[in-house]
Amino acid sequence: DEWDIQYVEGNDYESLRRAAHELVHTDTPVAFPTETVYGLGADATRSAAVKAIFAAKGRPADNPLIVHVHSLPQLRGLLSGRSDVEGGGKQAGKDAIPEIYKPLIERFWPGPITLILPVPENSFLAPEVTAGLTTFGARMPRSILALSLLRLCGRPLAAPSANASTRPSPTAAEHVFDDLQGRIHTIIDGGPCEVGVESTVVDGLSSPPSILRPGGITVEQLRQCPGWENVAIGYKDKQEGSASKPRAPGMKYRHYSPKAPVVLFEAGASKPGPEEMKAKRRIGIIRTKNWEPTLGLVAENVNISNTNGQALCSSSDPTASLGPDASSSSLSNLLRSVIQHQIPHAEHHIVKPDAIQVWDIDLGVETEGVARGIFSALRELDKKGVEVIYVEGIDDKSGDDIAAAVMNRLRKAAEIRT
Ligand code: TXA
Ligand code: MG
Repeated sequence: DEWDIQYVEGNDYESLRRAAHELVHTDTPVAFPTETVYGLGADATRSAAVKAIFAAKGRPADNPLIVHVHSLPQLRGLLSGRSDVEGGGKQAGKDAIPEIYKPLIERFWPGPITLILPVPENSFLAPEVTAGLTTFGARMPRSILALSLLRLCGRPLAAPSANASTRPSPTAAEHVFDDLQGRIHTIIDGGPCEVGVESTVVDGLSSPPSILRPGGITVEQLRQCPGWENVAIGYKDKQEGSASKPRAPGMKYRHYSPKAPVVLFEAGASKPGPEEMKAKRRIGIIRTKNWEPTLGLVAENVNISNTNGQALCSSSDPTASLGPDASSSSLSNLLRSVIQHQIPHAEHHIVKPDAIQVWDIDLGVETEGVARGIFSALRELDKKGVEVIYVEGIDDKSGDDIAAAVMNRLRKAAEIRT
């Protein structure tokens, strides 16, 4: 299972080498792409380097980090507490990797799943990595750039997502730059991330095993593995009785959050309450369904554009209609009522010049596409300075796609904060 570094083209190889050098010889973290989201990496064996991750992100010290490895020998080294970082291998004939994880490693590594493992005695992980827990999370990413960086460092890398704490996770190098400029020196740009939501975090040390965070590997994929047939859902993102109401933001916790409040429309969501109905003049919309342009809300002299600045609807096109069939989507209903409530004489569907600007991002109907684009869409709308972001949720009941991960992040972004 050797990975050949020469597959990386010349220029990239040089910059990768420099980045690896920086990781091993300085305490400044380096941002790098993985298949899920960009990570902010540091040598997991040195406290000063790991502390610098928390400082750069503004992350609370009690939130543990995931340790990234490039190979099973490297993981075994971590589990046996050997100071020889590259070494490891089998320890006195006994494999340190718990049996329960072997089917997952075989099927999903390298890939978007993080395993909770026991911290050994004489662990050489910096204690800050685990935030004082007796366990640590480990993951072998499948991004070639991530794997080659790990290989070049020869050290396990602790890496949370490379966003500033509370912000949406970064799925492009530019997102990392926006959040962390002035705080780090190096971002390895690998283009947009393949998956777009973070790894699934699983705990196989408890009985039954459980999913601590939904992510790039689905519950259905897990259930097909021996020992994981009855995997429990160990996270909570739905609030009792709230499924039929759109989620409105509150004040306290922030997670995956753009600056604008997020209002999430779960499947079957009802009409919005008074809070969401307050007059908004700059509106962001993230769509995940096909909207037929048949609403019949004729906008006149209104500046409605998509995020590329392209006019969707303008005075020069007074018959243009906005949004989908009113009966097909509660989000489209919302948009219509927002416009009707805040614009005088809106019952005639005449909108004053520049009264409202709507930026509209269509993520398409495929779950994978929604996952790839969701964090980026939240950030893009933030840059437009919208006052609210209405998001059309997706159906996460089936368990055989990564909709659960997408809706988990969106529910947190739209969490009622009391
Ligand atoms: O896809 C990913 O996992 C990305 C890329 C960069 O690999 N990383 C990532 O890291 O999402 P972060 O720090 O944003 O999220 C780590 C998650 C947190 O929910 C944390 O609480 C959990 O993993 N975690 C880490 N160690 C843990 C442990 N010992 N026990 C329980 N949960 C743990
Ligand atoms: Mg994160």
